[in-house]
Amino acid sequence: MGNDNSTEMTIHLKIWKQDGPGKKGEFISHEAKGLSSEMSFLEMLDVVNEDLVRLNQRPIEFDHDCREGICGTCSMVINGEAHGPDKEITTCQLHMRKFKDGDTITVEPFRAKAFPIIRDLVVDRSSFDRVIESGGYVSVNTGGAQDANSLPINKPDSDLAFEAATCIGCGACVASCKNASASLFVSAKLAHLSFLPQGKIEQDARTLAMVRQMDTEGFGACTNTEACEAACPKGISVENISRMNRQFLKASIKER
Ligand code: FES
Repeated sequence: MGNDNSTEMTIHLKIWKQDGPGKKGEFISHEAKGLSSEMSFLEMLDVVNEDLVRLNQRPIEFDHDCREGICGTCSMVINGEAHGPDKEITTCQLHMRKFKDGDTITVEPFRAKAFPIIRDLVVDRSSFDRVIESGGYVSVNTGGAQDANSLPINKPDSDLAFEAATCIGCGACVASCKNASASLFVSAKLAHLSFLPQGKIEQDARTLAMVRQMDTEGFGACTNTEACEAACPKGISVENISRMNRQFLKASIKER
């Protein structure tokens, strides 16, 4: 242990193991010994996988990339909470000091019809990509990059656009919602464009297309439980969902 604050821990894990899509999965038990309280949760899983390899067992598959809360790939449910017990962090930012020596920790994948399990803790979130492909961009030709400050945007709008743009598309909103709704994700992607002049032009068509694609992908409806906001590692506000619903209603009326 290289850090004075670290303590050695033993953790009892119950981890979801599933050999492939549509296969029957189950929780396997594993006792992880010699852990440091200063390890990140993913480093703890790395240690578990080294143990499993030594025991001639297949390692547990889990997604990760940046390991610094940016990419949104390290999605898993820990003790029943998407990204675990800490607020406004991703799984890779969770540390073992959040748990106690001897704790039992349950780890399972995000569960939603629109996020089919690929293997163990890895789910297919390409449904989010298809929602973005359906309209989450600006397609009008805005010319070359303008000088900074040549396009006036008021501070409250730029702040709201920026806050919405911090969504990393991890899917915690879906995993925490009893309806597996993607409303927080879709509304954040709509808001970050709709608050800016470049994005306003296609706002109606974009809202109609993305909301319809969300439904096509099999995400559930929003029933305002706000579990999504509580689980979101970036603290995205459910006010974006109200804005999306208003925009969708207006655009639907205009479409007729
Ligand atoms: S690994 Fe990128 S957000 Fe966790």
